[in-house]
Formats: sequence, structure tokens, C-alpha cells
Amino acid sequence: MAECIYHQLKSQPTWILILLSLGSISLLKLSFSIIIWVYVNFIRPGKNLKKYGSWALITGPTDGIGKAFAFQLARKGLNLVLVGRNPDKLKEVSESIKSKSGSTQIKNVVVDFSGDLDDGVSRIKEAIEGLDVGLLINNVGVSYPYARFFHEVDEKLLSDLIKVNIEGTTKVTQAVLPAMVKRKKGAIVNIGSGAAIVIPSDPLYSVYAATKAYVDQFSRCLYVEYKNSGIDVQCQVPLYVATKMASIKRSSFFVPSTDGYARAALRWIGYEPRCTPYWPHSILWALANSLPESAIDAWRLKFCLAIRKRGQLKDSKKIE
Ligand SMILES: NC(=O)c1ccc[n+]([C@@H]2O[C@H](COP(=O)([O-])OP(=O)(O)OC[C@H]3O[C@@H](n4cnc5c(N)ncnc54)[C@H](OP(=O)(O)O)[C@@H]3O)[C@@H](O)[C@H]2O)c1
Repeated sequence: MAECIYHQLKSQPTWILILLSLGSISLLKLSFSIIIWVYVNFIRPGKNLKKYGSWALITGPTDGIGKAFAFQLARKGLNLVLVGRNPDKLKEVSESIKSKSGSTQIKNVVVDFSGDLDDGVSRIKEAIEGLDVGLLINNVGVSYPYARFFHEVDEKLLSDLIKVNIEGTTKVTQAVLPAMVKRKKGAIVNIGSGAAIVIPSDPLYSVYAATKAYVDQFSRCLYVEYKNSGIDVQCQVPLYVATKMASIKRSSFFVPSTDGYARAALRWIGYEPRCTPYWPHSILWALANSLPESAIDAWRLKFCLAIRKRGQLKDSKKIE
């Protein structure tokens, strides 16, 4: 049989042999990628997060993805520093966590990331003094209330986007990192967005997408800077997750619940510098990569113009 194939191949012209070889290499590459994808999404075990330290600090833990991270990390046996703007919501979340995972120690720090950030960061530094904070989840983030052109973005929204998404992430990292460097261990997870990485543009959300592009590049550079110091830096890239920010109440196959996202997210901590932890999102990412950018740009613009129209209609009803 093998001899027969060999003779068949030998009798083919060179150009067919070249084409066959190229085809086989592509097929091999594809099969290899699929095997790796199955392994990292379904087989590879998550890391023992307690090995980084006994405390985790989470920003924006009072709602959405951050809240789900807080519950899941407590379940894994980590103590928590919760950094949020609303003291009542912080109290409610920490009491609810304690009622489920009684042994979890929790420290609440009230910081409004759109307010006096330096003051907030010094309160964070005070709170973590002497604690073994091995995991930092830079989750806090804001987006537009609804899609709008850049010239329609008012000063307050512009300032909040930059302060919360960029300055907040940067300054909290700078507050937590020195102790990790000293202990030569730690993990930092920065929550990016598909808006900056998966799709080529996010029209009518330009500043939000640009702040997340900052988070992505910031994370990658830190990953390289600190990987030899025992610190794993990662940018997680969620696509839509059912939260108030996304204005999606119900989860579905491609839109996970916050718990579904956080469960997947914990399994990726400490591995690749950039990932989308929820596997159906990675299918959408691959699909986006296979389409022409101009087609995605055009689809996204149409989609965001429709969101803008709906948002404007709601606003006008509120005024009436
Ligand atoms: N949901 C998605 O589809 C999606 C997709 C890609 C990326 N992301 C990213 O995922 C992260 C979490 O988003 P999410 O959807 O979970 O949002 P969310 O449900 O709106 O929750 C945001 C959290 O951040 C807090 N927060 C907002 N502004 C703050 C401020 N000025 N100071 C202190 N805390 C503040 C909120 O506090 P309150 O409880 O007081 O409001 C809440 O705890 C963000 O970085 C977002 O960009 C989300």
C-alpha cells in the first residue's frame, strides 16, 4: 500500500508535489492548533492560586464579573481585599461571601476610581500593608451608557473612562506589585475587552476600546518585564458577558453569566499572557480573524448605530 502511494507520488509533476506538501503542512498546523485548543480549554488543570499568596485583591467586586470573581476566589480558599466605590454594596457582598465561605477573611476598601484616585490608592496601600496579596484582579471598568460618536462624548464620561479604566488599573498595579516582587511570586489579571483586541474597531465606543487597548499592551509589557521575577501577568479578553455594563440580562451560549465567565477565568490564571477564557468566545474570535476587517467594521458600525438610536430614544423618553 505504502509502496503504491510512493510510486503514485513519484509519477506526479513537481508542482503537484509542492502543492501537496503545502496542503499537508497546513493540515498539520490546523490539527495541532485544534489539539492545543482542546487541551487548554477542557483538559489543562487550573493553577493552585493559593501558591501565589493567601490574599486576592479585586477591584469592582460589587457587581458583574468582579463580584463573581470574589465568590469563586473565596470558594478556592483565598482571603479577599475588595475595592469598590459603594460601602453598602461592599458590605452586602462581603457578608454574602462570608455566609457561604465562613472562613474567608475580607477587607473592604472604599475607592471611587473616578474621584480622588491618589487618596484611594493610598488607602489600598494601607489596607494591604503586611498582607500576603498574591493575586490582583484589575477588573474595575466603565463604558459608555450607550453608543455615541466621539464628538458627543461629554467631559465627565471622557474623564471617567480614562481615570477608571487606565489610571485605576495602572495605579492599583503599582500599589500591589512591589510586595510581589519582594516575595518573587504573584499573579496579575487585567480585564481587557474584545472591543480592543478581537474586532478591528469599535466605532461609537472609541474611547472605551482605546482604554482597553492600553490595558492589553500594558499587560503584555508587564508580562515580559516580570516573568523572570515569578509574577504572571495576564490580560483576559472577554467578549459579551451578561452584566449591567453590557446591558444583557440573560446569558446564552455565546454570552456567559458572570459565574460562568469567572469559573472559566480562574482556570487560565498564570498561563498565557493574553487569553479569552470562555471557550465559545474563542470560536467567535477565530471567526473574526477569518473575515475581512472591512466587513467586520461595516457590521459593527451598523450594530452600534442601532444601539445609539435606542439609547437616544430612551433618553428622550426620560426627559418627557
Ligand atoms: N460585560 C461585558 O460584556 C464585558 C466585556 C468585555 C470586557 N468587560 C470588562 O469587564 C470588567 C467588568 O465589567 P462588568 O461587565 O462586570 O461591569 P459592571 O457589571 O458594570 O461592574 C463594574 C464594577 O466596577 C465598579 N465600578 C464602576 N465604576 C467605578 C468607580 N468609579 N469606582 C469604583 N468602582 C467602580 C462597579 O461598582 P458598582 O457596583 O458600584 O456599580 C462594579 O462593581 C470591566 O473592566 C469591563 O470593561 C466586560
